Amino acid sequence: MEPARVAIVGSGLIGRSWAMVFAAAGFEVKLYDIVQQQITGALESIRKQMKELEESGFLKGALSAEKQLALISGCTDLKAAVEGAAFIQECTPENLELKKKIFGQLDLIVDDNVILSSSTSCLLPTKLFTGLKHVKQCVVSHPVNPPYFVPLVEIVPHPETDPSTIEKTYALMKKAGQSPVKLNKEIEGFVLNRLQYAVISEAWRLVGEGVVSSTDLDLVMSDGLGMRYAFIGPLETMHLNAEGISNYCERYHEGMRLVLNTFGPVPEFSGEIEQKINQAMSEKIPVVPQQLDARREWRDECLAHLAKLKKQMKSD
Ligand code: NAI
Repeated sequence: MEPARVAIVGSGLIGRSWAMVFAAAGFEVKLYDIVQQQITGALESIRKQMKELEESGFLKGALSAEKQLALISGCTDLKAAVEGAAFIQECTPENLELKKKIFGQLDLIVDDNVILSSSTSCLLPTKLFTGLKHVKQCVVSHPVNPPYFVPLVEIVPHPETDPSTIEKTYALMKKAGQSPVKLNKEIEGFVLNRLQYAVISEAWRLVGEGVVSSTDLDLVMSDGLGMRYAFIGPLETMHLNAEGISNYCERYHEGMRLVLNTFGPVPEFSGEIEQKINQAMSEKIPVVPQQLDARREWRDECLAHLAKLKKQMKSD
């Protein structure tokens, strides 16, 4: 049987990563971009990354890097790129007008079976897909950077998305080795960024008010909360930190409410506090491409190890 085909529209950071995720699972991948040079760069970068991952033992999937690379090809013709695809993952820049234009083009050339999916970080499905002829086949599949090592995908429907589109997307993401979650309806920030912004907001306030330094604030997460959040979420944490959720609420609801009522308004993310945090972060990691890239590389290496550990420890 021929491998299922996936088309990736936009071959930047996220498009490349998706291509690697799908190829690792044995899908045939067509990588589309408007500029040939961009595709050539993407294919070279994917080859380099896959070879390095293979050497260090972190290549995903059962196939060799060469076999996975043979599954990926580039294309600058949108119609040819999506021909025969069961799933199209759009990964163009985060710009509503551009994405609407691309989905408008796709709407004219696709059949009634393919799934049209967007990687958007924060554009709501109603903004992206309303009015499309194939709206029932449209969905957001929001990845986390880098998707190759961080498997979560938020599947977010348009109100008119057909339930079968959600189910098929969920199954495909599972098959690709990702960890999909389904949102029952769209909401600003989806779920991941709402949680992330809640944390950022309080982090900003605590450093801004001089309660703790920027570096110590980050340690609270990386050596504290984050240690267990890599394995269990906040709700299971509550469940385990007492004799179940109800017992946790009974014991801690007053304390939690007392603390939560001291949370202030949404920060401005500018001015003196921004300067203070920027200075501390820049002392640790200077804002020059080489230093930032080195730290990103180290972060991705840590995530690769963590992904392996999580696979070994899998309990659900
Ligand atoms: P990027 O800027 O690295 O890549 C965008 C690519 O789209 C480029 O290769 C560009 O040539 C191409 N492009 C531009 N116009 C196009 C068109 N008309 N047709 C086809 N391709 C076109 O952007 P990145 O970071 O890969 O982001 C892509 C999407 O993924 C965005 O919606 C972003 O919000 C989302 N996302 C990004 C994450 C990140 O950490 N970078 C994380 C999760 C989602």
